Amino acid sequence: TTASTRDLLLSRIRDVADYPKPGVMFKDITPLLADPVAFTALTDALAELCVKHGATKIVGLEARGFILAAPVAVRAGLGFVPVRKAGKLPGATLSQAYELEYGTAEIEIHAEDLSPDDRIMVIDDVLATGGTAGASLELIRRAGARVAGVAVLMELGFLAGRGRLEEHLQGAPLEAL
Ligand code: PRP
Repeated sequence: TTASTRDLLLSRIRDVADYPKPGVMFKDITPLLADPVAFTALTDALAELCVKHGATKIVGLEARGFILAAPVAVRAGLGFVPVRKAGKLPGATLSQAYELEYGTAEIEIHAEDLSPDDRIMVIDDVLATGGTAGASLELIRRAGARVAGVAVLMELGFLAGRGRLEEHLQGAPLEAL
């Protein structure tokens, strides 16, 4: 991405103080989504990364990741597979639990939508602690597919998600626009 694209994307991310709880600065992407020029620039940039890393399929992470991953999949001419929070997928699922700051969460995928020939690019809006993305990479490997990489709009560097993700990436790239 060019510096001007990065500036455009940054200018459309709204900082919301004390949401969802006191002391947290929430990164709100809704202004970016509402701006067709910025949303298209983001879609194009993520689609370019999918091509660059040889992805054959896109996995998007519920819920905000879906908004980005679906147009990227169409743009790149690739299929889209959702990773959902537990209990939302109707078919045969694989589940993966991961640790949150307090407690655990669980995400699921329809394993039959991935094949051993697939190289999967995981797309999400934010990499925070890296827990969600890491668990999604485990699901992809357990489903028998390979990992092309993880691509996000933003990485919250102070939360050290990149380090936590390392063991799950196993050398695959983490791209943060
Ligand atoms: C947010 C965000 C990522 C995840 C990042 O989703 O969209 O998926 O958290 O956090 P982590 O790196 O610490 O795992 P959230 O769970 O808030 O769900 P939503 O997209 O449905 O709002």
